[in-house]
Amino acid sequence: MGIEIAHAALEPAKELAGKEPGRESGHQKGHPREVRLLLGPTPAMPTDSRIEVVRFQTTADLERLLQQHVPWCNVLIMAAAVADYRPKVQAVGQKLKRSAAGLTLELEGTPDLLAGVSRTRRPDQLLVGFALEPADRLEASARDKLARKGLDLIVANELETMDAADVRAWVLSISGSTWQTPGHVSKQAFAKMLIERIDAAWRDLHSGAGAR
Ligand code: CTP
Repeated sequence: MGIEIAHAALEPAKELAGKEPGRESGHQKGHPREVRLLLGPTPAMPTDSRIEVVRFQTTADLERLLQQHVPWCNVLIMAAAVADYRPKVQAVGQKLKRSAAGLTLELEGTPDLLAGVSRTRRPDQLLVGFALEPADRLEASARDKLARKGLDLIVANELETMDAADVRAWVLSISGSTWQTPGHVSKQAFAKMLIERIDAAWRDLHSGAGAR
C-alpha cells in the first residue's frame, strides 16, 4: 500500500513543477514551481529533473523531514501512506537466533504527521491530504479526516485504487465543496485535475473566499 500511494504522489509533483498557479508570491506567472518530493521506500522516481527528491525510510524520518521542509513550502500534498504502527523495539542490536518458541512483535501507533503539521502551519499554507476509504462510507469518513487533521483539501478514493491504473476520486474542501472525477480516469489525468483543484483552492484562500 505504501508503494502504491507513493507512486501516485509522483504525478502531482511532476505537474506542480510544470506551471505556476498565479499565486501572490514573488513568482512570475508561467514560471515553474519549486517542488520538493519527500519519497519513501519505492523504486519509482520522478523523471522531471527540476524536482528535488529527498528519500526517507521510516515515519520518524519523514517527521524530521517535514519539520525541516514544511516552513519552506506554500502547498503540502501528503500522499504518503505513512505506516499507522511500528515495532516498539526499533533495533535489537544483535542477530536474533531462531527459536522454537516463536516471536511476538509489539507494535505502537505512529504520530499523525499531517495533523501535527496542521497544528503549527502558517495560515497562508495550503494542506492537502489523501484518504483511502471503503466505498460505503467514503465521503463521510474523508470529511471527518479533513476536519480532524485540519486540512484544506482531501482526496478520497476507493480501496480499488490500489494496484489499479485508474482512479475514481472525490476532492473535498474544508469550505464544504465536493468535486468528483468524471468516472474512472487514469492516475496521470487525475494528477492534472488535482493540481487544478489545488490552484482553485489556493486562489480562494488568498482572495479571502476560502471558508477557513
Ligand atoms: N498520515 C499522516 N501520518 C500518519 C498516517 C497518515 O500524516 N501516521 C496522512 C497520510 O499521508 C494521508 C492522511 O494522513 O494524507 C490520511 O491517511 P490515512 O491512513 O487514510 O488516515 P488515518 O488517520 O491513518 O486513518 P485510518 O484510521 O482511516 O487509517
